[in-house]
Amino acid sequence: MDYLEIIGGKKLSGSVTISGAKNAALPIIAATILSDKPLKLTNLPNVVDIRTLLKLLTMLGGYVKHHETTAEIDNSTINSTKAVYEIVSQMRASILVLGPLLARFGECEVSLPGGCAIGQRPIDLHLKALEAMGAHIEIKGGYVRAEAKNGLRGAKIIFDKITVGGTENIVMAAALAHGTTTIINAAKEPEVVQLCEMIASAGVNIQGIGTNELTIEGTGGKTLAFDTIEIIPDRIEAGTYLCAGAITQSTITLNKVNHEHIRASIDKLESMGCTFELADDSITIHPSDTLNPVNLITIEYPGFPTDMQAQFMALAVMANGESLIEERLFENRFMHVSELNRLGADIWLKGSTAAVKGVDKLYGADVMATDLRASSALVLAALVAEGTTHVRRIYHLDRGYDNLEGKLAALGANIVRKKERH
Ligand code: EPZ
Repeated sequence: MDYLEIIGGKKLSGSVTISGAKNAALPIIAATILSDKPLKLTNLPNVVDIRTLLKLLTMLGGYVKHHETTAEIDNSTINSTKAVYEIVSQMRASILVLGPLLARFGECEVSLPGGCAIGQRPIDLHLKALEAMGAHIEIKGGYVRAEAKNGLRGAKIIFDKITVGGTENIVMAAALAHGTTTIINAAKEPEVVQLCEMIASAGVNIQGIGTNELTIEGTGGKTLAFDTIEIIPDRIEAGTYLCAGAITQSTITLNKVNHEHIRASIDKLESMGCTFELADDSITIHPSDTLNPVNLITIEYPGFPTDMQAQFMALAVMANGESLIEERLFENRFMHVSELNRLGADIWLKGSTAAVKGVDKLYGADVMATDLRASSALVLAALVAEGTTHVRRIYHLDRGYDNLEGKLAALGANIVRKKERH
């Protein structure tokens, strides 16, 4: 197993190019199932989760030619509608094939994703919404078996909770349904917006894109044709590099970013004392000599993203005072706390809130990555810890960060990937 060896204390400089967004690319790959014409995706991040979902397409019978950041896909040859446990258990976002498979083929079986490190993450809202659209659903042998032999029909869906994946699944299902679907309390994350724009670009009438209420006129079973789609920049990767500049007190520039999508992170960094220079699609962070403490609550877009909570906790550890961080979306997304404390942080956890007392120094240690964003928080802390840190179990990082160690090393960090010797 690989691990990262990081020797802390180096300043960063120069620029880094942000990759395409994993969480935009995944639903877009799933949405290609709505088409039986060849299409091309560009600016894909070169990460394991993308390869896993593309592999699922090929297992369904689709044709995929994938090279680094582009994929040519032809789903006219799909001859299976079963998403097997071996893939879904590796990546819960595979549940995103449920809506499009059911909408196009009138039936499918998708392995039920289990819980995961950051929380239970049920899919009850996806299933309830599909049932409201006329699907017959049963859970048997660990699989969701869904059927809508005469096609799905439009319905009025009111989500009890805002769900990104749930909104994406229903938008895809609604695109080929008979009649009009309204989704109330829909997610409006930039990744959901790009999926809606992709489907709208194929001629489906979608109203309310980027708001909490979406209205989708289905094609009544007619498949879609998509032009080439360029994946939007990854706002979480961008936020993570801004935190790298802030924590190491370095001026760095990020290229290929969408400023609007990272507004919440920029605002919090400004309140911590950092300043920014914005150009067309780039941003330069000028750090502050001392970081002010920060109070934040994770919430749906455009609020502060849960996917940046761990990285900001690493920053708060180095702030001058006490910060409060509340996690509202996932009940167990604090696994980085004990690992950060192993590096010398002073974090106290009560329920869904962490109180972080800033410390003067961190000291390198062996730490374990527990989930994707927790892993990047450990890397950030290691960049400023005195001595050597080994971050283990970095397969979590490889799922969602494109060449993290290469990009950080190019900025001047002392970071290398090594192989565990047994
Ligand atoms: C997406 O997960 C992202 N994943 C997550 O990013 C992100 O943390 C999350 O949205 C929130 O922004 C992808 O886009 C692939 P949700 P998703 O459904 O869609 C509850 C990362 O690090 N819920 O919006 O699974 C759920 O348990 C990942 O890149 C139900 O109760 O998240 C959670 O508390 C991790 N029932 C809340 O809603 C349901 O049926 C929001 O989850 C669905 C969700």
